[in-house]
Amino acid sequence: MSEIKVSTIKNEELKFIAGIHMESFKGYMNAMLGKRYVRNFIAWFIDQPQCISIKAELDGSIAGYLVGAPIGYEPSMNSALMSSNLLALLTHPRVILHPSFRYAIWAKLRLLVGLNAIKNEIRNPEGKGISLVGIGVAPENSRKGVGDALIREFELLATKLGFNFMRLSVYRHNNIALNFYKKNGWLELQTTKNVIYLFKPLIQP
Ligand SMILES: CC(C)(COP(=O)(O)OP(=O)(O)OC[C@H]1O[C@@H](n2cnc3c(N)ncnc32)[C@H](O)[C@@H]1OP(=O)(O)O)[C@@H](O)C(=O)NCCC(=O)NCCS
Repeated sequence: MSEIKVSTIKNEELKFIAGIHMESFKGYMNAMLGKRYVRNFIAWFIDQPQCISIKAELDGSIAGYLVGAPIGYEPSMNSALMSSNLLALLTHPRVILHPSFRYAIWAKLRLLVGLNAIKNEIRNPEGKGISLVGIGVAPENSRKGVGDALIREFELLATKLGFNFMRLSVYRHNNIALNFYKKNGWLELQTTKNVIYLFKPLIQP
């Protein structure tokens, strides 16, 4: 039987993990910005306090990753990654044709002027929340329990860090991810035109 081991991402693994992101999010806007952009994006989580960055190894090879950050992380991430984002945009100009581009720019501009990135503010549950920002499993290793192992560890670590709930957003059309989260006990919080927000309460001991 296959063995799945989950542990913290190390800097030297970033290149490989960025490759997994590129495959699992093929066609998504951030993958269109290139591998260097994705590497810098995932690297940001490694050194931040209260952030979670984990990988899953399947029989000794990295098969998936997950990153999470306290709700409200976007402004500090955007300012840290500003030059990387601009460089990625200049070197991958086709990204402006992506249907999500206009929305992403609009959200970043709102953040710059101190407004919430999302027009309809989300009604969060009570307490301190952590956002599951990204989870990806290499397509050749899908449906082997890698995602389940990652999200279970995320829940354990988030509880240890003192969070009261976890939250994420998922595109309405992403039925596989929606199935995955619902199987793992996540509940619907709010829906917008294209996105569904899910949450799961955490029980502090
Ligand atoms: C969502 C994702 C992380 C799931 O990872 P995974 O390792 O394949 O998931 P698991 O093998 O642990 O499956 C757990 C459950 O998810 C659901 N699931 C996973 N793949 C599925 C599929 N192809 N069809 C339907 N349900 C699926 C099932 O409920 C499954 O439980 P089961 O196998 O007992 O029926 C993976 O498909 C992925 O990386 N997708 C692309 C990136 C993405 O969309 N990320 C989420 C963005 S919000």
